[in-house]
Amino acid sequence: MCGIVGYIGKREIKHQLIEGLRELEYRGYDSAGIAVMQEGEIRAFKAVGKLANLEEKTKNFETRGLGAGIGHTRWATHGKPTELNAHPHMGEYSYVVHNGIIENYREIKERLEKEGVQFLSQTDTEVIVHLFEKEMETKGDPFDAFKSTIDQLDGAYAVLLLTRKAPDTIFFARKGSPMIIGRNGEGEIFFASSDAPLIGEATEVAYMEDGTVGYVSPEGLHAEPVELQFVPLSGDKMTAQKGGYRFFMEKEIYEQYQVIGDTMIGRVLDEDILFEELDEAFLNGIERIKLCACGTSYHAALTSSYLFERQAKMPVNVEIASEFRYKEPLLTTDTLFVVISQSGETADTLEALKMAKEAGLKTLAICNVDNSSIVRLADATILTRAGIEKGVASTKAFATQVMVLWMLSLFFAKKRQTIPQETMLDELRYMSYVPKVLQKSLEVHEKCRRLSKRYLHGHGFFFIGRDIFFPLALEGALKLKEISYLHAEGYPAGEMKHGPIALADAELFTIALMPKTLLYDKTKSNVEELSARDSTILAISPEMFELADDFILTHPHKHPMLEFFEMMVVEQLLSMEIAIRLGNDVDMPRNLAKSVTVE
Ligand code: M6R
Repeated sequence: MCGIVGYIGKREIKHQLIEGLRELEYRGYDSAGIAVMQEGEIRAFKAVGKLANLEEKTKNFETRGLGAGIGHTRWATHGKPTELNAHPHMGEYSYVVHNGIIENYREIKERLEKEGVQFLSQTDTEVIVHLFEKEMETKGDPFDAFKSTIDQLDGAYAVLLLTRKAPDTIFFARKGSPMIIGRNGEGEIFFASSDAPLIGEATEVAYMEDGTVGYVSPEGLHAEPVELQFVPLSGDKMTAQKGGYRFFMEKEIYEQYQVIGDTMIGRVLDEDILFEELDEAFLNGIERIKLCACGTSYHAALTSSYLFERQAKMPVNVEIASEFRYKEPLLTTDTLFVVISQSGETADTLEALKMAKEAGLKTLAICNVDNSSIVRLADATILTRAGIEKGVASTKAFATQVMVLWMLSLFFAKKRQTIPQETMLDELRYMSYVPKVLQKSLEVHEKCRRLSKRYLHGHGFFFIGRDIFFPLALEGALKLKEISYLHAEGYPAGEMKHGPIALADAELFTIALMPKTLLYDKTKSNVEELSARDSTILAISPEMFELADDFILTHPHKHPMLEFFEMMVVEQLLSMEIAIRLGNDVDMPRNLAKSVTVE
């Protein structure tokens, strides 16, 4: 949620900040702003809506020579998306940008108001800049005042502050919200909420630990309580661009067959599954698994619960992280606590992980972002290797999560000797077909584009499936609602008659996942029940179904997971085409953010 950037150097500062924010716009895009300091003076600009509005507003402003700047793209938490609530927030002579939530902002605000400070916004962030200037009155030294300010904040934050009292200096602090600092041989300094804006700019980066506070100027860098450790930054800008596709989401759907190969490489062997990340001692004593995640990552977890129980004969339970946190869960130390997160920054998942650690459980993160907060906290991590995912609607991250979890279920099956070697070899063989299947699934894109025009109205969508196709139905419904804003729900096909079928009529669209390898006849009966009540049926299946109003024919496969991956692509393409036809920005759908770092 929210993205922040900072820059110190001689290049045109506005351009540097806006280009950095462009890379982070997926984190929030209600409003954006920058503050730029040169020769001791600060100019600030803010605009509601997307970054293009800020660009327009600053088109006649440019800098020459050395200076410093900070920028922010917002996903509103406290206060509406207005210009006054946009960052940077200003005091008399200082400006601040912040990502996270200051939990005790009301107390601080009340205290400062009693002392005569006037607030302009409804945000929690504004207290930081006023508190800093109050502290300056007694401390005199900007860094002492900044430290004392940060000490008084509860909650999560990544903060950058500019003040006229310290020319060309950026003060920074981080706790619970991501922030990275980068530098290069030209003496330039960069800050950002994730790697993306730094790629191609910084040559090395430091991932700040929680509790870090410091400042940087052209004269040098100071950080407390531990020095920052810089590591080389690799990657090139091109991989982070759209590469000819209309949307990042589309590009990411098309990339799946390649990135899934990266997920498997070195792990899926001819006769075995290998996870170098997991050593024997770590797994000793593990008898059960608890999977915990949010949103799409939760759907990946739910999918794997069928696989773990079926293959590895392990009791598995799956938790939505925001529910898990407050249910006073009973945790036993023979449980492996697995968190799944694309971003590695989801607040609920991170907190659930902390709870599991405190209860003494062994913890494993399945994550796409190395060095993210979740990765750093978990005892072990399996990276999904999907590459940067920019579309807010998760696609390739989901595919790679499911793949890692399928691999992990076999890894445990082998360790626990619950499947014969012959079955293991079959599973590995089918697994190796997945990249090809993902590639071939793209052939239905044109069909999805054409069909999309028939699904722009109605009073709702039911995505239905059985077994692993039930979580896939949930995922299909989530994808569609996120980007099309149409009402969609996922259900186990067998559950319809217990209530939801009451909604069936010609304006209710049923998207039926009808794989041939798993419970085909059972699912078919459920679809027939809906068809008999006049629901419009779009069947996705390798077998023609006479009652379907529309049909997307998939390839015949011999393994349910291959059907799963193919139908996943169909759902993604169909949702995307419906949303595009409705004129929506599928990469930045309304009300959502890529990384949900608030509760
Ligand atoms: O980064 P995470 O995987 O932890 O995020 C969890 C959810 O916020 C995320 O999957 C969300 O549901 C996506 N927008 C789905 O497309």
